[in-house]
Amino acid sequence: MDLFAYSNQTLHAEGVALSDVAEQFGTPCYIYSRAMFERHYMDYAEAFAAHPTLICYAVKACSNIAILNVLARLGAGFDIVSLGELERVLKAGGEPSKVMFSGLGKQEVEMRRALEVGIHCFNVESEAELYRLDKVASEMGKKAPVSLRVNPDVDAKTHPYISTGLKENKFGIDIKEAVRIYQIANELPNLDVMGVDCHIGSQLTELQPFLDTFDRLVGLLDELAAVGIKIKHLDLGGGLGVRYRDEVPPKPADYAKLLLEKVKGMDVTLAFEPGRSIAANAGVMLTQVEFLKCNDHKNFAIIDGAMNDLIRPSLYSAWMDIVPVSQQPTSEGKRVYDLVGPVCETGDFLGKDRELDIQAGDLLAVRSAGAYGFTMASNYNSRNRAAEVMVDGDTAYLIRARETIEHQLAGEQVLPD
Ligand code: LLP
Repeated sequence: MDLFAYSNQTLHAEGVALSDVAEQFGTPCYIYSRAMFERHYMDYAEAFAAHPTLICYAVKACSNIAILNVLARLGAGFDIVSLGELERVLKAGGEPSKVMFSGLGKQEVEMRRALEVGIHCFNVESEAELYRLDKVASEMGKKAPVSLRVNPDVDAKTHPYISTGLKENKFGIDIKEAVRIYQIANELPNLDVMGVDCHIGSQLTELQPFLDTFDRLVGLLDELAAVGIKIKHLDLGGGLGVRYRDEVPPKPADYAKLLLEKVKGMDVTLAFEPGRSIAANAGVMLTQVEFLKCNDHKNFAIIDGAMNDLIRPSLYSAWMDIVPVSQQPTSEGKRVYDLVGPVCETGDFLGKDRELDIQAGDLLAVRSAGAYGFTMASNYNSRNRAAEVMVDGDTAYLIRARETIEHQLAGEQVLPD
């Protein structure tokens, strides 16, 4: 489902023209479609409805509390990696009992808060982390629910920076060591072994690596059963890819069809941590052309959005579709442009070699920017972070005000005379 579509030659989000959003809230800004977020979450919920399954949206993909709230209202769980993400989920009305806490460097203060509110499970990534969690739980007189994140050594066949399931990656526990470390977890008095967890990478466009992973984890479940450790849930992480250009990623329904066949008859709940496949195509980043700068070699469109607003093109050489908001022809005609921001770095671009018919003042939408867009934004070059807007039908709501210089400077101070 794509609710970013042209109507009267103007790109809309659901029933709202993006030009109206720009007028009301300025640029650059992120615009999300509520209906698309909901649809993408429901794609998972419906696909796995036949088996006990917990869908935990990966908060890091897009963490505005309005988004989390929309998903919480549908019954979503959440995958978090920090205290900040936990507090966002709580503020958004998410149920702590549906929260998975991932991440490989959890601090005591984070563990304490998560235990206090009663999360579903900690995904533990090392033996040392087990001891820390056991100590914190003991101090609080509680039992901490744990899974071990195992590294199944499966090649996710994705970009090296977002591939996490190979044995050379920093994540997880080597599957060959897992039984030994599960036995330690099982014996620690303040831990309650619940599940097995893994996450092999992001933007996967094939199902085979997930299926291979599942098979390896089922093998581990059998080994654990043999030593008397009963596993209640199997968390397969996130990672399903989306279409940025011409990829044809599998849908949650395709994934479910193959997996539900495999899990049939097993007494184990499934869990997933999808981020990108829920958020990416449900958002765009809106930016305005400041100047055109053309010379003998190149045409540049200098835009008001930059690498600090959306770092994926600079960081991963990610290709993101960039389209004009208005389809009206301009007096400039079509040219091939590099779309560059005002930041003082050669790597500050959102797209290269794009054929566009645009003029100064035009609006452009960077598509598929809902995941890892705003959440990776920074204040580099002391730029204010963009506004975030959610469209629901015919109404656009401001869900995060554009930052101001005052926000940026709050907390800084000069030395005394
Ligand atoms: N669970 C864990 C433990 C993760 O580390 C991640 C993503 C997810 C779930 C969600 O994965 P997804 O369904 O979104 O693929 N910034 C990069 C992506 C980094 C992904 C990090 N971990 C990008 O913009 O492509």
